[in-house]
Amino acid sequence: NELQRKKYFSTIGEMASLIAHEVRNPIFAISSIAKILMQKYGGPEDGRFIDSILRETERLNALVEDLLNYGKPLSLEKKPVPVGKLINNSLNGLSSYLEESGCKLELSATGGETTVSVDQERIKQVFYNIIRNAVDAGATQITVSVGRERRFKKIVVKDNGRGIRAADMEKVMKPFFTTKKSGTGLGLPICKKIIEAHGGRFLLKSKEGEGTEITMAFKE
Ligand SMILES: Nc1ncnc2c1ncn2[C@@H]1O[C@H](COP(=O)(O)OP(=O)(O)OP(=O)(O)O)[C@@H](O)[C@H]1O
Ligand SMILES: [Mg+2]
Repeated sequence: NELQRKKYFSTIGEMASLIAHEVRNPIFAISSIAKILMQKYGGPEDGRFIDSILRETERLNALVEDLLNYGKPLSLEKKPVPVGKLINNSLNGLSSYLEESGCKLELSATGGETTVSVDQERIKQVFYNIIRNAVDAGATQITVSVGRERRFKKIVVKDNGRGIRAADMEKVMKPFFTTKKSGTGLGLPICKKIIEAHGGRFLLKSKEGEGTEITMAFKE
């Protein structure tokens, strides 16, 4: 029943936080040593290998960060920002990643002057997760647009990736559901949590074989 389900998830959450917390120390040790090795042996030949140790430890760090944050209530530092600027800032760091992945991004920011009050760092995190998912789904085209519906300002991210199977639609928003070899299944749940902490809505539409559309709606 619902109560058992809640208990179950809070136990998982507590365990995840504990593990995440303890895993941080060895990660820190590994990356510190790798940095020293990099200084000593980081030539063009072996630097590559050390660099990939560093990158992977960074990935682990990000994962641990996600796990630690997942169970906690979010504290937001909200500031008003024009939607267009918010989108630009959020996508800024992603251009080389998109280029490497052979994915085009189209931004139609008409209506981008209207402001929303948000924690930009958190929203950036949401964009990263959404874009990464689209690329993982084999998208070659992503469109980001701004809209408005009744008393909501909307940001819509649409991709032409492989889409989500109808049978998976209810599962993808739940923590730890993944169809990927090395996925954690925390991306979408974190996005939803962040947007809802802003008093907004996080909606997902998808059709297998056609693509996926995510709408983030903020109250005026
Ligand atoms: N844009 C998308 N297109 C197709 N499938 C998607 C898309 N976004 C999410 N999914 C599906 O939803 C699942 C859950 O996504 P979520 O971001 O929560 O976790 P993940 O991507 O598997 O792992 P992580 O984000 O932690 O690396 C994915 O494994 C994938 O099957
Ligand atoms: Mg993901």
